[in-house]
Amino acid sequence: MSSADVRLILELRGVTSGYGEKTVVRNLSLTLPAGGSLAVLGPNGAGKTTFLKTCSGLLKATSGQVLIDGQDVTRKSTHDRVKAGLCHIPDPRGIFPSLTVKENLILQAPRGGASAAIEKAAAAFPRLGQRLTQTAGTMSGGEQQMLAVARSYIQNPKVVLLDEVSMGLAPNLVDEIFTFLATLKDTGVALIVVEQFVHRALALSDSVVVIARGTIRLSGRSDEFGEDEIFDAYAGTAPQGASAHV
Ligand SMILES: Nc1ncnc2c1ncn2[C@@H]1O[C@H](COP(=O)(O)OP(=O)(O)O)[C@@H](O)[C@H]1O
Ligand SMILES: [Mg+2]
Repeated sequence: MSSADVRLILELRGVTSGYGEKTVVRNLSLTLPAGGSLAVLGPNGAGKTTFLKTCSGLLKATSGQVLIDGQDVTRKSTHDRVKAGLCHIPDPRGIFPSLTVKENLILQAPRGGASAAIEKAAAAFPRLGQRLTQTAGTMSGGEQQMLAVARSYIQNPKVVLLDEVSMGLAPNLVDEIFTFLATLKDTGVALIVVEQFVHRALALSDSVVVIARGTIRLSGRSDEFGEDEIFDAYAGTAPQGASAHV
C-alpha cells in the first residue's frame, strides 16, 4: 500500500534533536498509520525518550518536521500537540504526587469532562476507583503508573506515546497495564510503546523499530522478528538517517 492510501497519525521527516550542542536523535524518519501500533526498542541511552519528547514537543526538533494527523506541529507547543490528538505518558510518571487521585484525574480530563474521566479511569483500573481520595504519591509504584496511564484513555487521544510504563513494576501489574494497552489499541487509538520488555512490546505492536545512537537500526513488522534479532540490532552498526514507514 502506498503512503498516499493511508491516513498517517504521526509522521517524522528527517528529525534531528538533542540538548544544546548534543545531538541525540539523528535524521530520523518514521510513519505511524491511524490505529497502528509501533514498538520502539533499543539500549539505554539510545535516544528513545528524546525521540518521544520530540514528538510531544517537550523538545523541539533542530531540523526536520513532525506531523500529527497531517498537521505540521514542528514549531507548535506541547499544548497544541495535545489538541491535535497526541498524549505522551512520560517517564518518570507524569502525575502530581501531592494531589489526590481524583484531583489528578480532574486535571487530566478534557474541559467539562471531569466526572466522565473519573468513571473511565475507575472502569479501566478498579484499583484507582477505590483510591480516589488517596494522595497519589502515597500509592504503590504500580498504582501511580496506572494513574499516569489512565490519561491515555480519558483524554480521547488519537495517538499515545508510552515511555517504559512497565519500569520497576511487579509482573502482575505489568500484565494489568499491558492488558489495558491492548484494549486501548482495540478502540482504534494508535500507540507508540517504548519498552524494555521486548516480548511484551512485540506482542502488543504491529511494527517495530530498534533505535541505537539516535538512528533506526532495524524496522519491520513485529511478527517478523524474535528477541534475538532485536538484541542483535541493539549492538549493530547504525546506517545514518535510516527510515521506517510502517
Ligand atoms: N536533559 C538532558 N540533557 C542532556 N543530555 C541528555 C538529557 N536527557 C538525555 N540526555 C542524553 O541523551 C542521550 C539519549 O538519552 P535518552 O533519550 O534518555 O535515551 P533512552 O531513553 O533511549 O535511554 C543519552 O546520552 C543521555 O545521556
Ligand atoms: Mg528513556
